[in-house]
Amino acid sequence: MRDSVQPLGQRDIRRAVSTSASAPCQDETEYAPGWYAIAEPREIPADRPVKLRRFGVDLVLFRDKDGSIACLDDRCKHRGASLALGNVKDGCVACPFHGFEFDAKGECKHLPVLGAGAKIPKAMNTRAYTVREQDDWLWLYWGEFSGELPEIPRFEHLYTSKRRAHTIVREWSASFVRVIENQLDPFHLPFVHKSTIGRNMPPAMTVNYVEEGSRITAWPGEARTDKHAGFFIEFCWANLWVNHISDQLDIVAVFAPIDATHTRTYLRTFQGFVTIPVLGWIVDRVMALSNVKIFAQDEGVVVSQPQSPLLATDEVLVKADGAIIAFRKMYARALRSREPVESDRAAE
Ligand code: FES
Ligand SMILES: [Fe+2]
Repeated sequence: MRDSVQPLGQRDIRRAVSTSASAPCQDETEYAPGWYAIAEPREIPADRPVKLRRFGVDLVLFRDKDGSIACLDDRCKHRGASLALGNVKDGCVACPFHGFEFDAKGECKHLPVLGAGAKIPKAMNTRAYTVREQDDWLWLYWGEFSGELPEIPRFEHLYTSKRRAHTIVREWSASFVRVIENQLDPFHLPFVHKSTIGRNMPPAMTVNYVEEGSRITAWPGEARTDKHAGFFIEFCWANLWVNHISDQLDIVAVFAPIDATHTRTYLRTFQGFVTIPVLGWIVDRVMALSNVKIFAQDEGVVVSQPQSPLLATDEVLVKADGAIIAFRKMYARALRSREPVESDRAAE
């Protein structure tokens, strides 16, 4: 039976957006709180600071004396130079302009012009962000928090057997919300991917989805009691996604928001069917080429969509868009409450 056309859930989203604390678009407070994978740790070298733009903010990242990654506002509190143009010194980042040094907590530790032992004004301290490394991702907690931080999300099944992992990276001129939504939508496959993964796929399909805790799981075809029995796609708050193709093959993506209209996507393939080093290396590259092609097909349509507001309210959605609706409601709830979506990882 064909889906009926209906503005499913849009009123709820409009209400949530209109009561959120900020206006849509460009405003950094539009990003709902939670752990976001923002980069791969290998992007941050040991000996120099690096600038990354995320959440519409320029950030400087560097490694302290222990090798742990620190993240501060890139703009120097003194006169606004980019700290990323400076260097790393004694676990601090030193500004290229007048040499002021900031540690991993954002505290200004040295002001060369005043000489050793001088009192440093508190106003010179800068904003530091909470970052962690886990599963070969660099995570940043976006938003205020009191008490304990939530757990960093993980798809546990990826780490229970030997797999090879290989990552490709692409930047699109699209909001990270549009990019996530694209990955919650299996019924574009026979159209956008008609020459690749959507070949021979019938356009009429039922899309099932389940929302549980911080996750939305979707699959085309018959309803199931076990959401993980067979092929599925799953989104995990705030920007982690997996395409589970078989017991030996998963594709994980993180959608790192650069700003309101740009997203850096990391697509990491986990495969367990060829793990011998040289052969595995070849298989990884062949799959990477395929993923590049498929992803480019998505890019063409996703960048053509309106990118603002973040949570679109003027679309006419159909029943098969249910997982997208669930995601937008989840996002709107987190924006409104200023609380991250509760993790269900412990229940796995
Ligand atoms: S602008 Fe950074 S030390 Fe002066
Ligand atoms: Fe696609």
